[in-house]
Amino acid sequence: MHNNIQITRPTPIDLTKRPAFFDENSNLVTTMNNLEEGKVVLIRSYYSNGLNLLKELHVHLTKKLRNNTYQEQQIYRSTFRKLSNLILLEIVQNDLEVKKAPSIGWLEKLYPDVSEFHLPLPQVQGLNSSWQWFKKGIKVPVLRNKIHPYYGVYFPTRFDHLEVFDTYLKKYVGPKKGAIDVGIGSGVLSLQMVQSGFQKVYGTDVNPNAIAGLVDYMGETKLSRKIELEHASLFGSFDKQVELIVFNPPWLPAGHDVDGIDKAIYYPEDLFTSFFKGAKERLLPEGKLVILFSNLAQITAVTKEHPIENEIASGGRFQLRRSFKKRVNAASEKTKRNPHWRDKEEVELWELIHKEA
Ligand SMILES: C[S@@+](CC[C@H](N)C(=O)[O-])C[C@H]1O[C@@H](n2cnc3c(N)ncnc32)[C@H](O)[C@@H]1O
Repeated sequence: MHNNIQITRPTPIDLTKRPAFFDENSNLVTTMNNLEEGKVVLIRSYYSNGLNLLKELHVHLTKKLRNNTYQEQQIYRSTFRKLSNLILLEIVQNDLEVKKAPSIGWLEKLYPDVSEFHLPLPQVQGLNSSWQWFKKGIKVPVLRNKIHPYYGVYFPTRFDHLEVFDTYLKKYVGPKKGAIDVGIGSGVLSLQMVQSGFQKVYGTDVNPNAIAGLVDYMGETKLSRKIELEHASLFGSFDKQVELIVFNPPWLPAGHDVDGIDKAIYYPEDLFTSFFKGAKERLLPEGKLVILFSNLAQITAVTKEHPIENEIASGGRFQLRRSFKKRVNAASEKTKRNPHWRDKEEVELWELIHKEA
C-alpha cells in the first residue's frame, strides 16, 4: 500500500540551455541583470558563493524596492522568491557539486531516480535545515524516544497540546484495542497512544511525506505492527470501529487553496463536517472522540466560527463530554516578538461522545 506513494520533493531541474555562472570573481551587476531577465544562474566553486549572492540580492532589491507597507513587503518578498529561485546548484551522485557544501542526506533519500540535476538554492537551504532536524531528532517531553520529522512534514515545536493529551491518556479508563489518528503528521499522537497501551492505531494523512516518513521511521520494528498507515484523507479505507478517535486538525480556516505542508495549518470549509460524519460511523458506541484545537483563529479574529462548538450545537451526531483548556504562554515567556494576542492563546482538548437518542 505504501510502495506507490509519490513523495513531495523540490522538483529537479534539468538545464536545457547553457546557464550564466556565478563565482567569487563574477560581476554582480551582470548577475543581477541576468536574474532580473529571468535567466538562471549556476553557482560555481564554493557553496558560500551562493549564500553571498543571496545576500547581494537582498541588498540590490532593498535599493530598488520600497519595503514598508504590508503590500510593499509582499511585493518585495515575492520578487525575492522569484529571483532567488533562479539561483541554482548542481547535484551529482547525491552531492552538491560546489566545495564546502553541507552534506544533505535528503539528496540520496528523495532522489534515488536521478543522478545529475539542479535545484534552486533556497530549496537546497530548506532541504538542509530539514535534514539537520531529521538527523538530530526532536525531544518531545511526553515521548520516550525522539521524533525524526521527515522532509515536508509538520512537526510540533510547542508541546502544550501534547501535554494536555498526555494527561488525558493517563486518566483514560476503558478498553484500548484500537484507535484512529486522523492527520498523523510526524506521528506524535499515535506514539503517545501506543505508549499508553493502545494495541493498534490506524493513522492517515493527506501529506504523502508524513506516511513515507513514518514507514521509514518504523522500519520493521514492533511499532510497525502497531501503527497501520494509509495515505488518504480523513479515514481512508479504515472501516473498523474503535474506542478512540483523535484529530489534531489544522487550526485556521483557509482563505485560498492550500497544498503540501500548509494543509497542516489551514482547513478547507468542508473538512470538519466530513470528519464528524466519518467519525460517527467509526466510533464504537462507548467510544471517545478527542479533538485538539486552539483559540488561535478566534483571538486573531480570523473567524468567530468554532468548528467543534458548531458540531456540538447543530451537528446532531455528538455531544460534549468535557473539554480542557491550557494557556500556552507563561507570562515569563513574554518577549517583544510575541504579539499581544499570544497572551490569550490556549490549546483545547474536546472529548465528544455519541449523542444520546
Ligand atoms: C496540525 S497537524 C497535526 C499533526 C500531528 N497529528 C500532531 O499532532 O503533531 C495536521 C495534520 O493533518 C493533516 N491533514 C490535513 N487535512 C487532512 C485530511 N483531510 N485528512 C487527513 N489528514 C489531513 C496534515 O497534513 C497534518 O499532517
